[in-house]
Amino acid sequence: MKTSRPIGIFDSGMGGLTVVKEITRILPQEDIVYFGDTARVPYGPKSEETVIRFSIENILFLLKYNVKLIVVACNTASSVALPTLKKHFKIPLLGVIEPGAEKAVGITKNRKVGVIGTKTTIKSGAYKRNIKENAADVNVYSASCPLFVPLVEEGWFNHPITKKIAYEYLDPLKAKGIDSVVLGCTHYPLLKPVIRQVLGKNVALIDSAKQVAQQSRLILEQNNLIRKRNKSQVAKVRFFVSDEPENFARQGSKFLGVPLHDVRKVSNV
Ligand code: DGL
Repeated sequence: MKTSRPIGIFDSGMGGLTVVKEITRILPQEDIVYFGDTARVPYGPKSEETVIRFSIENILFLLKYNVKLIVVACNTASSVALPTLKKHFKIPLLGVIEPGAEKAVGITKNRKVGVIGTKTTIKSGAYKRNIKENAADVNVYSASCPLFVPLVEEGWFNHPITKKIAYEYLDPLKAKGIDSVVLGCTHYPLLKPVIRQVLGKNVALIDSAKQVAQQSRLILEQNNLIRKRNKSQVAKVRFFVSDEPENFARQGSKFLGVPLHDVRKVSNV
């Protein structure tokens, strides 16, 4: 059956599990195949050309599972590869930039929005472009925060060093008077308490995972691809990685919010 095909999701590593968490909440009946490119993470400091190549390979892997929709859960890959991917592949493809940008435009009152992400995401200008396309009057202030990813992977969510670095990166944005900030990287939602401490509670933290899940449902509805709910059937969520699975399972549970089982290593990506 067309509708019983799984949803494919990929990220450079484990960060995209925040998207898996929201998709399973909103679409609990859907099977999911997740691919984390742990052998080649991080994508954040890599060139556009390399990230595009990796993204094409990741999609070719997911297509082997006959997926019906592919969610590019990685902000860096969404920023630089999505237009090329859409040209290459016919399957419905959803990135994380548009949903995050739309949410920012809906939330900001003073029309001053901050965007934080990896070096490649910020350099691409993808968020700024998307926000401006939605609302030309919104001022966008961007900052790359390259040290946040390794700090999260180290589990230093609330470490004094993380706080120091957060002040360094975010103070200039705060000085601009932003009232909202897009957490434009899969890892940043885990730093929400620290980011909130630095920016103050009046700055809204925009985490696009929920929006991405809602958009996924919309795309499936529009394409008549929603799987019917069947109480007796439990949805299958499968995890594949390109490097050893133990660390992914251990650390990934922090992103997913529940223990992670059945992670398999694949070597053909
Ligand atoms: N997944 C990446 C992103 O959202 C962060 C990790 C990396 O640099 O690969 O931009």
